[in-house]
Amino acid sequence: MYTINRAVLRPFAAALALVSATAFVAQAEDAKKADPALANQLDPNAPDKDQKLIDNFAAVKVEDGKYFDKEGHPTYHITNDGKKFDWYAYSGYRRYHAECHVCHGPDAMGSTYAPALKDSLKTINYEEFIGILAGGKRDSQAGQERVMPAFGDNKNVMCYADDLYVYLKARASGAMPRIRPTDKEEKPEAARKAEKECLGG
Ligand code: HEC
Repeated sequence: MYTINRAVLRPFAAALALVSATAFVAQAEDAKKADPALANQLDPNAPDKDQKLIDNFAAVKVEDGKYFDKEGHPTYHITNDGKKFDWYAYSGYRRYHAECHVCHGPDAMGSTYAPALKDSLKTINYEEFIGILAGGKRDSQAGQERVMPAFGDNKNVMCYADDLYVYLKARASGAMPRIRPTDKEEKPEAARKAEKECLGG
């Protein structure tokens, strides 16, 4: 009787061990979320912070200096009381002001011609953003035609699509107020490599 019982119990013991292993992994995941290396340290006095978006856009993973949110999309990492930016947010700021601000206004504030992307990016997701960037958008309502050019063939834009997206997310959530970033994380080797491949290929 005793031996039979032990044999019957063995799979339960194994299952129990599996459950605790799973619980351990879940705990480890939680611990990872609270990883101080991923947390933002924003300017406490920055106006227009949207805490819900800031939480949504929070980084849960970093890979070669590139941060990703819980949906696996690129996101920003801002530290030192809002003064230090990850490479992609910094690069996105510069690309934006080279390629987009003539129409969309400085700091993504919008103009009479084109919408404020600091508002658009509250709702436009990554896939939509890349689609609009590559394919353009046209609004001919009210007689006045407004055209968002298609940048699909422009490497100076498309090679930095993620940088632009990360910067605009930082603006949309209010994590980045209207400032010119100076301090930044080092340019990752992966960014150097991807840039070279994208521009050259
Ligand atoms: C020549 C002017 C011009 C330039 C340059 C330009 N855009 Fe636009 N963009 C527009 C206009 C106009 C619209 C609105 C089109 C519409 O409503 O259909 C727009 C719309 C958009 C939208 C959709 C916004 C929304 O709320 O629907 C995104 C995203 C966008 N632009 C991103 C960019 C980025 C990023 C750059 C720089 C790489 C850029 N644009 C450069 C004119 C421009």
